[in-house]
Amino acid sequence: MLNEKMNAALNEQVNAEMYSAYLYLSMQAYFQKLNLMGFVNWMNIQVQEEMAHARGLYDYIQERDGEIILDTIKKPDQTWNSPLEVFEAVLAHEQLVTSLINKLADVADETKDRAAGLFLQWYIKEQVEEEASVSGVLETLRMIKDDKHALLLLDKDLATRVFNPPVIG
Ligand code: FEO
Repeated sequence: MLNEKMNAALNEQVNAEMYSAYLYLSMQAYFQKLNLMGFVNWMNIQVQEEMAHARGLYDYIQERDGEIILDTIKKPDQTWNSPLEVFEAVLAHEQLVTSLINKLADVADETKDRAAGLFLQWYIKEQVEEEASVSGVLETLRMIKDDKHALLLLDKDLATRVFNPPVIG
């Protein structure tokens, strides 16, 4: 059984992951308008990953006989000025999610919930990968600047990303 504080914190993270999916869905639509289909693919996979992260937490709450408390998902931004600006926003968002996961792990420590602490290790490692993958794209976009040809080459590269459903926990 989850204690109340841990239960609430895990539910808040379900909301944060659902918001992440919503944000990336909004970014996917932005790239669709630019007809950059590799970026569309990258965002589409990001959406699926975030949904899987939310589902992993949801399933864990259920497994621990906790209570699911769903809250409002806030409205994401819908306009950006360039692909670079989008990826700057993605990195800032992932850094925020990393801090939220770390706080969640702090709650597991405070409440001496060893099982939740172990479960959250997966999310801590995942955030390292998420930030690294986003930083890679961002670095390339910074080098590209206004070079349209280079942007299309990156778009081709992002089209090769595939979704591997994560095995969480
Ligand atoms: Fe679920 Fe991108 O963190």
